[in-house]
Amino acid sequence: MRIILFAISYYLSAFDLADDMLNQYQQINDSGALVSARGDFKLGFFNTSNSRRRYLGIWYNNIPVQTIVWVANRDRPLNDSSGSLRIGDDGNLILLDSGGIVAWSTGIQNISSKATVAQLLDSGNLVLKSENGGNTESYIWQSFDHPSDTQIAGMKLGWDLKVGLDRYLTSWKSADDPSSGDFSYGFNRDGLPQGVLRKGSVKKYRTGIWNGLQFNGAGLKNAIFNANFIDNSDEVYFEFDLYQQLTRLVLNYTGTTQTVIWNNRNLEWDFIDTKPSNPCESYGHCGPNSICTISNAYICSCLVGYIPKSSQDWNALVWDGGCVRKYPLNCLDGEGFVAFKGVIVPDLLDFRMNTSMTVKECELECLKNCSCIAYANSNTAEGGSGCLLWYGDLIDIRSFPNPGDQTLYVRVTAADLVSISDSKEKKKRVVLVIIPISVALLVFLLVSCITWKRIKQARGSRPNIPFKDDENIDLPIFNIVTIANATNNFSISNKIGEGGFGPVYKGQLSTGQVIAVKRLSENSKQGVGEFKNEVILIAKLQHRNLVRLLGCCIQGEERMLIYEYLPNGSLSSFIFGLIF
Ligand SMILES: *[C@@H]1O[C@H](CO)[C@@H](O)[C@H](O)[C@H]1NC(C)=O
Ligand SMILES: *[C@@H]1O[C@H](CO)[C@@H](O)[C@H](O)[C@H]1NC(C)=O
Ligand SMILES: *[C@@H]1O[C@H](CO)[C@@H](O)[C@H](O)[C@H]1NC(C)=O
Ligand SMILES: *[C@@H]1O[C@H](CO)[C@@H](O)[C@H](O)[C@H]1NC(C)=O
Ligand SMILES: *[C@@H]1O[C@H](CO)[C@@H](O)[C@H](O)[C@H]1NC(C)=O
Ligand SMILES: *[C@@H]1O[C@H](CO)[C@@H](O)[C@H](O)[C@H]1NC(C)=O
Ligand SMILES: *[C@@H]1O[C@H](CO)[C@@H](O)[C@H](O)[C@H]1NC(C)=O
Repeated sequence: MRIILFAISYYLSAFDLADDMLNQYQQINDSGALVSARGDFKLGFFNTSNSRRRYLGIWYNNIPVQTIVWVANRDRPLNDSSGSLRIGDDGNLILLDSGGIVAWSTGIQNISSKATVAQLLDSGNLVLKSENGGNTESYIWQSFDHPSDTQIAGMKLGWDLKVGLDRYLTSWKSADDPSSGDFSYGFNRDGLPQGVLRKGSVKKYRTGIWNGLQFNGAGLKNAIFNANFIDNSDEVYFEFDLYQQLTRLVLNYTGTTQTVIWNNRNLEWDFIDTKPSNPCESYGHCGPNSICTISNAYICSCLVGYIPKSSQDWNALVWDGGCVRKYPLNCLDGEGFVAFKGVIVPDLLDFRMNTSMTVKECELECLKNCSCIAYANSNTAEGGSGCLLWYGDLIDIRSFPNPGDQTLYVRVTAADLVSISDSKEKKKRVVLVIIPISVALLVFLLVSCITWKRIKQARGSRPNIPFKDDENIDLPIFNIVTIANATNNFSISNKIGEGGFGPVYKGQLSTGQVIAVKRLSENSKQGVGEFKNEVILIAKLQHRNLVRLLGCCIQGEERMLIYEYLPNGSLSSFIFGLIF
């Protein structure tokens, strides 16, 4: 008797233990759930506020804010809570409504082994596999191949070319309605891959092409997650791993992609990157043959050799009508190219690509054909290689001064070339003025810090002597101990970014003020270019009122800049856009 009881209780507890799995003899009703082995994710039924409609979905199990990452029956909600999930006779995972009608199914035809099990993995992937399949990764079906609006770590966004599978995100209709909305975000493969956000079929934003190093509109490397882009003959996809904090990429129903990380202190999701996040990032904002430069007062400008299409546009802030040729190209002798450095090259609409050409061959190839308008390297790795040729209008060029940036060569007439060399002299003079001013500004910032520090030190050793100069210095200096305390001793979990200038940490002062600390790396103290960029960066951020510089910290070899920390994406251009 005891043995039987033991056997039963053993059987039951074994049953309980495997609550990440569903086999042919089990079913899950509305109050049931699958929980992944480590407890990270949960699969169950939910409804959104103001609605009795029930959905089968996956959410994070360990955080207090219910965050749905996947919905099975998003376009066929259940009308009440009498739904159930089980394995159907054909081996598919099916969701049945109260009438026993299939509301959703994994929908695989001809499953060879009807003995299947569904399992919720710790990655948040719901998989259907053969019961005898062991731990092989050959799943019959997996939710990671059918994303809703969210990409989580380990999930591939893009193409499996062997089976012709395209994985892309589709937004919810609204905050309360998981059904498929108008926006989608995935990877386009015409020519070179690029991330494209669409409303219906209309492009709203693109990352810029994958140029072998990065999407030239979006950096990959940062300290929050380890992002990867794979582009080979079998697969083209984007994925990321987590380092510390939960991170996800969500296509918001408002039509922006948002990268968010879980903040364990405030128990909320912090926005770290939003795209599009400024007018220049909205697709083709300035119209054809123009460049959009976010830091200019007039963000739209025409390419050399072009003028605004409409004369009304001359004084407007935005030229959505775009630009047309001032003098038509006539293919006569003397035509040449003007280089635009640091741009996101035009969308690949009417183009040709040859990955084995050098940039010189590319230029000659473009000159040969009268309708070739522009060219660029197709790959910027290792000094650049390959050839992209554009025909017709050039759409969606953005200024993007960045390490690893791309140069676009735009065809101009002989007359244009002459007027350019005339104005070069003038430009030279302007540059001669700008560079010293920038350098002076940076030197001033650092010197103010150093002076302030000297004054403080001096005051420390001779406390009775007052220093009148104190009030004149507006840039406060922070003690390194204060900053170390605020950032948990520069702990890795406080690190929110890594740029050409060094790591960026998030911290909190004892006053409660949340700060971002940019710790300039040792080798960042070289090169006029980097100094200049830094100052331009500071000036730009100050000017646009995005991130306020609160002060600096200088101690031994340490150079730090302390900014106000702004969540909600404002920081993104600082972390992702400008320093990568
Ligand atoms: C779901 O199943 C549990 C136990 O299996 C049962 O107690 C509960 O009443 C069921 N709920 C519904 C809504 O059917
Ligand atoms: C689900 O619906 C019920 C009843 O309408 C409501 O009380 C509850 O708040 C909803 N759940 C959520 C997460 O909004
Ligand atoms: C829910 O009710 C609507 C309207 O009554 C019906 O069209 C729909 O098919 C029902 N959904 C399911 C899953 O039964
Ligand atoms: C499934 O099997 C049936 C009968 O064996 C066959 O006619 C059908 O083409 C198969 N479908 C697929 C998608 O393989
Ligand atoms: C969508 O964006 C809005 C506004 O930025 C935000 O309040 C909301 O939390 C976002 N929704 C999701 C699912 O991220
Ligand atoms: C690409 O360029 C190379 C070198 O100029 C040339 O040999 C090759 O034929 C070109 N390929 C195509 C498809 O045009
Ligand atoms: C120029 O390029 C266009 C677009 O690729 C092509 O249709 C046309 O035939 C080319 N013209 C010559 C003369 O090669």
